[in-house]
Amino acid sequence: MGVAQSSVEEIRHERTGIVFRPGLDGVPATQSSICDIDGQQGRLSYRGYPLEELAAESTFLETAYLLIWGELPTTDQLKAFEHEVQMHRRVSFRVRDMMKCFPATGHPMDALQSSAASLGLFYSRRAIDDPKYIYAAVVRLIAKIPTMVAAFQLIRKGQDPIQPRDDLAYSANFLYMLTEREPDPFAARIFDRCLMLHAEHSLNASTFSARVTASTLTDPYAVVASAVGTLAGPLHGGANEDVLAMLEEISSPDQAAAYLDDAIANKRKVMGFGHREYRVKDPRAVILQALVEEMFERFGHDELYDVARALEAAAETRLGPKGIYPNVDFYSGLVYRKLGIPRDLFTPVFAISRVAGWLAHWREQLGANRIFRPSQIYTGSTQRSWIPLESRLPTAGA
Ligand code: SDX
Repeated sequence: MGVAQSSVEEIRHERTGIVFRPGLDGVPATQSSICDIDGQQGRLSYRGYPLEELAAESTFLETAYLLIWGELPTTDQLKAFEHEVQMHRRVSFRVRDMMKCFPATGHPMDALQSSAASLGLFYSRRAIDDPKYIYAAVVRLIAKIPTMVAAFQLIRKGQDPIQPRDDLAYSANFLYMLTEREPDPFAARIFDRCLMLHAEHSLNASTFSARVTASTLTDPYAVVASAVGTLAGPLHGGANEDVLAMLEEISSPDQAAAYLDDAIANKRKVMGFGHREYRVKDPRAVILQALVEEMFERFGHDELYDVARALEAAAETRLGPKGIYPNVDFYSGLVYRKLGIPRDLFTPVFAISRVAGWLAHWREQLGANRIFRPSQIYTGSTQRSWIPLESRLPTAGA
């Protein structure tokens, strides 16, 4: 497994000698056979298959199957899986009614976290070790998450969600439910390839969160809801949304270098750059950039792409020597924008895809479970005596 060289110092506890590495940088927290990253060479594979091959040949549902069950499906297995997913796309009117009570101004990731968790109210967790239950939970989550994302988009515009269309494949159906138009097949295929690229990435923060939650033997809906909450942050999946805001702020290719210099001088993180595992350009960013160009060739150019390329070129000399290059979130937003996906849905779209990886890790965790319970290095006060209320000083910072 490729583990990047750490730029973070380790901290040794004087009394016990225990070593603490902030952010668990370089610390293995599990064994896994799902995804392998070579961060020095910029290589990524799912279950041993190079991502480039999957993105060219496979579909999102087939890749999800591979991730979750470890092997590429046969024709019959794939047909059955696609059929099951198609049959379970609809969500209960109760979930839709619940979503109608969410504030329209709320972030769609919060709506998704709540609605994903609500599925646990409908499906019992008691059979968690039954393969049939696991299969059904996988199907439900992969099928219903896109429906819930699209439903909230329409609900917040004051409209009723539209029902999934059985004649449309997975990605085309999502774009249809979102935009109320049947998508161009080329655009739907590009979107499906984006989903494959985001489906899994070893022990990233949201997957770690999923595994920790899974290790308590709670239900898979809670596992996915905890992961959605983790993915939402701007240091993780939320960065794809911020990249577009940043590119709009820079607004012109000739402003890119000055923006970068200012960000570096003021210790601001440049969104869509840097990765704990990679010291080179994220291989997913390489493929996504090619998809951006395919999209623009077909549907017209977007000037923000010129800004993005200027920023990447300026970063080469300024951040490259530290191993900081574009990550998966840098180019994805440009594809989604061309597809007509609103900016605050970029991270929910990441979740639609990553649910495959979370579920693969859920299964793997259940297969050899031990509850996560790391230790800590206590740095607080010791041996204090009780202070009567009237003698206390105000707490600083409260
Ligand atoms: C995802 O883990 C995964 O696999 C995640 C993911 C997945 O598929 O699940 O790939 C998806 O989350 C992609 C990352 C999206 N986030 C961003 O684009 C936000 C911007 N990037 C960073 O904040 C940062 O690079 C992280 C969060 C991605 C990684 O953080 P680390 O490994 O903790 O690195 P760090 O913040 O400690 O930085 C180390 C050094 C620092 O410099 P020094 O103090 O050592 O001089 O690198 C610098 C940082 O200042 N640095 C950056 C930078 N990223 C790191 N400087 C400017 N801009 C950046 N983006």
